[in-house]
Amino acid sequence: MPVVTTIDDLHRIYRRRAPKMFYDYCETGSWTEQTFRDNTSDFAEIRLRQRVAVDMSDRSTRTTMAGEEVAMPVALAPVGLTGMQHADGEILAAKAAENFGVPFTLTTMSICSIEDVAAHTTKPFWFQLYVMRDRDFLRRVIDRAKAANVSALVVTLDLQMLGQRHKDIKNGLSAPPKPTLANIANLATKWRWGLGMLGTKRRQFGNIVGHAQGVSDPSDLIAWTAEQFDPALDWDQIEEIRDMWGGTLILKGIMEPEDAKMAAKIGADAIVVSNHGGRQLDGAVSSIRALEPILDAVGDAVEVWIDSGIRSGQDVLKAVAMGAKGTMIGRAYIYGLGAMGEAGVTKALEVIHMELDKSMAFCGHRDITEVTRDILRVPRGFSGDWD
Ligand code: GLV
Repeated sequence: MPVVTTIDDLHRIYRRRAPKMFYDYCETGSWTEQTFRDNTSDFAEIRLRQRVAVDMSDRSTRTTMAGEEVAMPVALAPVGLTGMQHADGEILAAKAAENFGVPFTLTTMSICSIEDVAAHTTKPFWFQLYVMRDRDFLRRVIDRAKAANVSALVVTLDLQMLGQRHKDIKNGLSAPPKPTLANIANLATKWRWGLGMLGTKRRQFGNIVGHAQGVSDPSDLIAWTAEQFDPALDWDQIEEIRDMWGGTLILKGIMEPEDAKMAAKIGADAIVVSNHGGRQLDGAVSSIRALEPILDAVGDAVEVWIDSGIRSGQDVLKAVAMGAKGTMIGRAYIYGLGAMGEAGVTKALEVIHMELDKSMAFCGHRDITEVTRDILRVPRGFSGDWD
């Protein structure tokens, strides 16, 4: 196994091993990718305050997210097509998360189905819902999640339609890949990936194929999201979904205080401040800049988490110090998965945990639940100097 000390190391291996089409799908933002870039560079703007002569023994990164005990304030975010990054990707990532003690979120747009993941794990996982026009599908998928013992429903609010990512169109993104000359030439160089795919039967959108009606080409993600996703989704429908589900509800994709207040009002257990990793509205601010105004608006009315741009344990520490109760990582674990399967996801979690734990200690803390904004140096106007 190559020596891996950073998420960047995993990224480099992933890039070599994954088919171009799926690497590009992961490593893209929409349109100019400005928001995608800002998400990471804005974390780097924030600096940490070093403290000395503080007892650093017996440290803990344990906390809770929506009432669930977690080994660190990090959950695996829902990521489309995970089972195309590596054969059986969702199952492997869910197992790595379970063993590490952090939540795994299965997306509606997964390759392995809800039932597949439930059959290969022993603890409840979370399910992320995309709201489709097909109401029967919606009801059935919620029932399937309940039957699979899913412990929280994550409803993504910022993808009623797909943001345009130029590379996906140019690559003809599909699952499985279509046998075009360009794909065959690229896949011929990805023997490890190919062997894995030959060894699994999970190569289509497992939650959709055989479950949703009237999908003209279920392998074409761009076409079927346009056909199937409900552009009419509004707060009334979100309340309906809340009642249909009846359990822990997490609303993801909130960037404005007004929307955060609505989410709290309808009784969400947590919200995720997220611009979808810069994949939806290009030109939105980074989620770390959006965090504080939202915290100010909702106070303790709802747990506030954040995703988009987190690539290190220091990013987790910064988000938590600013006031987020939890974080979600997407690309950071996909790099690990595409690089070396389950062991790579575990490695990504270990790297992030080690960076979080040591940085917390260098900042003078032993317990993540006691970390406050005092450990940060935040540029003036960072969260709000905009008209
Ligand atoms: C789906 O969630 C995507 O961003 O492609």
